[in-house]
Amino acid sequence: MYALPQLNDYSPATLDRAAAELVSACGSEAQQVNSDATYKAFRDRWLARKNGILTQVNDLWLKAAPREAKKDVGARVNALKVKVEETVAVAEQRAKGGTAAARASAERVDVTLPGIRRPIGVEHPVTRTMNEIVAVFKAMGYSVGEGPEIETDYYNFESLNFPPNHPARDTQDTIFIAGQESKPQRDRLLLRTHTSPVQIRSMERQPPPVRIVIPGKVHRNDAADASHSPIFHQVEGLAVDTNITFCDLKGTLDHAMKSLFGSSVKTRFYPSFFPFTEPSADVQISCFKCGGTGRLNANEGCRLCKYSGWIELLGCGMVDPNVYGFVKENGYDPDKISGFAFGMGVERIAMLKYGIDDIQLFYHGDVRFLEQFA
Ligand code: PHE
Repeated sequence: MYALPQLNDYSPATLDRAAAELVSACGSEAQQVNSDATYKAFRDRWLARKNGILTQVNDLWLKAAPREAKKDVGARVNALKVKVEETVAVAEQRAKGGTAAARASAERVDVTLPGIRRPIGVEHPVTRTMNEIVAVFKAMGYSVGEGPEIETDYYNFESLNFPPNHPARDTQDTIFIAGQESKPQRDRLLLRTHTSPVQIRSMERQPPPVRIVIPGKVHRNDAADASHSPIFHQVEGLAVDTNITFCDLKGTLDHAMKSLFGSSVKTRFYPSFFPFTEPSADVQISCFKCGGTGRLNANEGCRLCKYSGWIELLGCGMVDPNVYGFVKENGYDPDKISGFAFGMGVERIAMLKYGIDDIQLFYHGDVRFLEQFA
């Protein structure tokens, strides 16, 4: 390996020869650099402040030079420094490229290994049922809308004809956002308890006629059990036009239930109450398990419909004229138009369709449950 020689004389010829030898030694050592480690050793050997070759050049050649040769030696030493530093820089680039190449070859793809199979996801049964319901109404010409899950008291209750302190509010155990007391009641925020507030929002956005379905998440302060969840999903529907009657409501929902549960199901409209519809009804379908008889056979009753032959499924009614009062500037004059609304629970429909007896199964994310819907 190259070692810095003592100079016997300081003649230009001697100096040039010594400098050329040094540069060529540095160059050929640089050729050996092929990794991070060899680069560092090379760099330190030539540039280390303590006893690196350039430092030795300073001590052995420059400091030892007689006064009259100092200028000449100094100029050559400076040129050497630049050359050596350049060579080290080039070697560094090569070392980095070299290690990248080494890494690439270590990580090269082994085409003989088995591939990684990523299981393909499927729609969650709740999403799937929601899409199915929406599709039934889209096919009848309905558009699809959405609204916010954090609602104001105005949209969730007041404009739906639930006056402040009306007892009907108690039927929807509401989760309120804290710290709203300083606002007027109608502006206070809550988690919507149903998708019905989007009825008003839709009518604010467009004059009649409207035919719209609104899928979405709703919240109620209910304890979780086999049939309740504080978060669940609904699909809302609203149709407003001239001359819409209860017959249209019955025909529309009868068709929708047959599409969802099979053409042999019958529907029945049972008197009910909602503040925003008048008259109001609960829709029941004939039990598809026992065929509406309430019995599975001579010995066994049908538990699905609680032995009644009918399953209660959704709420509906003709839009109450008071509701139009909140959007009358937008063309909703109860003397000229009429309409119906309905709202159904998606989980409940999915449970009936797929024979699921515990609503909580939808939320556990257990693949053994979910993959059955693939
Ligand atoms: N919003 C009602 C509920 O959640 C359902 C409903 C919707 C009833 C539209 C009538 C009309 O209970």
